Amino acid sequence: MRDPNLPLIPYGKQLIDQSDVDAVVETLHGDYLTTGPSVEGFEEALCERTGAKFAIACANGTAALHLACLALELPKGFSGFTSPITFVASANCIEYCGGSTSFVDINPNSLCISIEDLERRCEEMRPDVVIPVHFAGIPAAPEKIQALASKFHFKIIEDAAHALGSTYSVDNQRYEVGQCAHSDMAILSFHPVKTITTGEGGAVTTNDPILAERLRRYRSHGITRNPELMKANHGPWYYEQIGLGFNYRITDLQCALGISQLQKLNSFIERRREIVARYNDAFSRLDSIITPPTPSGTMPCYHIYPIQIQGASRLEWYKELKAEGILTQVHYIPVHTQPYYVEKYGNQTGQFPHAEQYYSTCLSLPLFPAMEDEHVQRVINAVMKITEYVSS
Ligand SMILES: Cc1ncc(COP(=O)(O)O)c(C=O)c1O
Repeated sequence: MRDPNLPLIPYGKQLIDQSDVDAVVETLHGDYLTTGPSVEGFEEALCERTGAKFAIACANGTAALHLACLALELPKGFSGFTSPITFVASANCIEYCGGSTSFVDINPNSLCISIEDLERRCEEMRPDVVIPVHFAGIPAAPEKIQALASKFHFKIIEDAAHALGSTYSVDNQRYEVGQCAHSDMAILSFHPVKTITTGEGGAVTTNDPILAERLRRYRSHGITRNPELMKANHGPWYYEQIGLGFNYRITDLQCALGISQLQKLNSFIERRREIVARYNDAFSRLDSIITPPTPSGTMPCYHIYPIQIQGASRLEWYKELKAEGILTQVHYIPVHTQPYYVEKYGNQTGQFPHAEQYYSTCLSLPLFPAMEDEHVQRVINAVMKITEYVSS
């Protein structure tokens, strides 16, 4: 039985300090609650951090995916590919825009979309857009996907919801995820379990000024005040709605928090990496679990720590960890097996065997920068205890 005085350890949690609180309170006392200087300030800070030319902050990561897909202005019925091991939002944005969603199996050595499978699928059915997911913060080989994009002429939206702070190297050159060095756009999420938070929030980054203009326009109802895009101009109050957009704006309050959080990103990354190193040290020799991969050339800032349970029931592990006060989560139920996608596309179980095999054993252990050393040790001790128990 767990000592009832021991606190529950969640699988993820925000880290908010007094400077975050002060930043939000200061904004509350200011002139703008929404679409004011903090939104622009946050967008500039995101550009500075990622190295992308433009950042468009919005209501959440799902809205960012929707905006990115809209900004490509693809014809109805277009074809989009993504990974089955992701949150449903990565696929849903294709559906929102009237596209047809297909999946590409994962590579078990990266847990991201398999480049070989992607090439094979591109030969069968030319996609218009591919949405690779940097799962758990592991960069999904963007440069290889870009090489396939040149060959098969598709657009790339990186789903970097997990991967702010991750980097990867190509020919000894280091790239930030979100820099869009090998894609058209990248999206970020600032949900509380993500690397930084704005409560709810998201952003799209890009280096393309045309996409940036469309992203801003679709974020606000499809409205423009740009005289070059309008049919008329009745005066300084005038605007035109030239397409169908949404209210996907983010508030100044949220962006004040985002600016403050971004200033601490390096310390968040460092703490996440420290915890991952401690877990890896403790677990890498165990036969009972497989630890998350670090593909060569990648420097992930892990958003989650998904282990794969070997030779025992994942449900049993889940329950045993919960009995120790350690809350875990399963990332993810393969999206192609969700009833919506099965009913619409007739997807079959067994279609993406690596994704399905991974799902059958995966479990994410707690990982967040506010975790104290003693919490990390409690997780390690519990894993050791369960390993002994289930293998005896
Ligand atoms: C991979 C991935 N993409 C997109 C999203 C959507 O982000 P949000 O929750 O900010 O809408 C999430 C959220 O969990 C995610 O994990």
